[in-house]
Amino acid sequence: MSCSMSNKPAVYVTRQLPAPGPSILSTYCHVTMNRSVKPISKAELLNNISEVDSIICMIGDNIDSEVITLAGKRLKLISCYSAGYDHVDIEAAKKKNIVVTNTPDILSNTTADLTFALIFAISRNVVKGDDCVRSGNWKFGWTPDLLLGHDVHGKVLGIVGLGEIGTKVGKRGKAFNMNVTYYSRVRKYQLESEFGFRYVEFDELLRESDIISIHVDLNKDTMHMFSLNELKKMKNSAILINTSRGRVVNEKDLTHALTNRLIGGAALDVFEEEPISKSNPLLKTSNTVLLPHLGSATHETRQRMAEMAANNVINFFRKTGPIHRVN
Ligand code: DGY
Repeated sequence: MSCSMSNKPAVYVTRQLPAPGPSILSTYCHVTMNRSVKPISKAELLNNISEVDSIICMIGDNIDSEVITLAGKRLKLISCYSAGYDHVDIEAAKKKNIVVTNTPDILSNTTADLTFALIFAISRNVVKGDDCVRSGNWKFGWTPDLLLGHDVHGKVLGIVGLGEIGTKVGKRGKAFNMNVTYYSRVRKYQLESEFGFRYVEFDELLRESDIISIHVDLNKDTMHMFSLNELKKMKNSAILINTSRGRVVNEKDLTHALTNRLIGGAALDVFEEEPISKSNPLLKTSNTVLLPHLGSATHETRQRMAEMAANNVINFFRKTGPIHRVN
């Protein structure tokens, strides 16, 4: 799409952006949007960004160094419709002086809510219970040993990464009477005293936690942060929760740990490959709850994210307000 007939910045949106994103954008920009929910191919993407000033991209769009190198000269801004930006090659963008923005913080409570949905779903057999009722396998009404789970209250919740989402998960943990510990690259003394979180080294967190919840960004230091070595250190009753990025966990090792009962279970919202392949052995595990990346998936939050991603574009070009810059 070219915008040579108008002075408005041209923006390409890689997939259907929820309201009010498109109407905010159109107040100041010439907008072209892929109206499908399906990610577009690299060739299609390159074709669509050869003459634009900005892209709004989503998780699943691979904005790698090739895309950035081959993008048209006009491209000045990549606005991510997400808090995470591991799908964009930030270094390559920097080299071309392309600014990258994201939608931080506004999805933290929503993702923390889903983290707790997973904690309860796996600890109290919510999904198996639903299946039992629907499938006609509920034979005798109340039964002393039907689908017994484990308490959540009173347990040790180990949070890995005490950023915005990790902190909100910790606050929820306290409200459910859990003993909240955390490991983070940088120790957060203020949050410790404000909320009663206890800092522990990573190894100690692995050994002591009943439930471990991952809230780190994906980068070269956190890639496969949970591999067999770490999984072996966990209690064999422990539950692993991941609502961050799939590749923080080595899925092959996790499947081995689950199958061999080295850990008690896992509840995952994110995977190394999304969508998960139909042949992924994780799908055959029984001590898991698996969701299709729903962390921020509420009407309210997706609307706020659309607003922020669009305003990042407008404010960048008009220079009238803040942008959430990551590079
Ligand atoms: C994000 O924004 O990074 C979330 O993973 C989206 O659900």
